[in-house]
Amino acid sequence: MIVRSVTDLRATVQDWRRSGLSCALVPTMGALHEGHLALVRLARQSCARVVVSIFVNPLQFGPNEDLAAYPRREAADVAAATQAGAQLVFVPTVTEMYAPGHATTVHVVGLSEGLCGPHRPGHFDGVATVVTKLLLQALPDAAFFGEKDYQQLLIIRRLARDLDIPVRIEGMPIMREPDGLAMSSRNAYLSADQRRIAPELAATLGDMARTLASSGGAVSQVVAAGKARLLAAGFSSIDYVEVCDAGTLAPVARVEGPARLLAAVRLGGTRLIDNVPVAGKTA
Ligand code: PAJ
Repeated sequence: MIVRSVTDLRATVQDWRRSGLSCALVPTMGALHEGHLALVRLARQSCARVVVSIFVNPLQFGPNEDLAAYPRREAADVAAATQAGAQLVFVPTVTEMYAPGHATTVHVVGLSEGLCGPHRPGHFDGVATVVTKLLLQALPDAAFFGEKDYQQLLIIRRLARDLDIPVRIEGMPIMREPDGLAMSSRNAYLSADQRRIAPELAATLGDMARTLASSGGAVSQVVAAGKARLLAAGFSSIDYVEVCDAGTLAPVARVEGPARLLAAVRLGGTRLIDNVPVAGKTA
């Protein structure tokens, strides 16, 4: 079932609740791939009803980003989401989501500031605002997000907690292509040559994480070597490669507790992000 208004979304979810059915929300921007569909299946395992939202959120795109080019294929997405277990697909228009005069945004201090923050000014405010709205529109029991966007996941956990939104935020590991490339709607932008280079990002991060886990320190040297390898592999430029505390995203100089290695790189005009957990020193 496709629903385009907040009123209809609320009415359906309230009917489910009155029947004692639990409800999950999986927010997306469409162009659904296996990463999205795995989220839908996971949501279906924990809740009786699943809502998938498809909304290419203009608020989270910068002026020079790919809002106009972002792939849109509603019919195929609705079929795939339904097949994966969604009972309702919420596809609001921009004016349904942002009524004229819309003036309120959500900003999560701290977590939004590093990593992708400086490279995409306003992006996380756009994400935080639309996700807050989606959570309040649907009021699900749980909402599901991928670790592919690790910084985004932490920001969403924080806003739900800080704003007392009574929703469980669930994270899911990254789904990858057989060669390791993290699945992304933006992978469709890659040329054949670029697609051959792209898996080097995951391979490099995986090797760096293993080195960090076994050496237990020397973050700066491992990061410098990793960046050099990425540039040698053919990536056009590097936005960042950083090792951060897995909970606060504060940069760490030595891996002592749970850490996360996160990277954003550019391949021609396409921006790719990826991240892997880093175990503390084991040897
Ligand atoms: P989108 O990029 O469409 O992603 C929707 C959800 O799918 C996010 O939670 C994202 O982390 C997850 N996802 C994407 N690729 C994944 C992969 N390879 N493995 C696991 N999960 C993956 O992220 C957004 O949309 C938007 O910012 C949104 C949260 C919908 C707000 O507009």
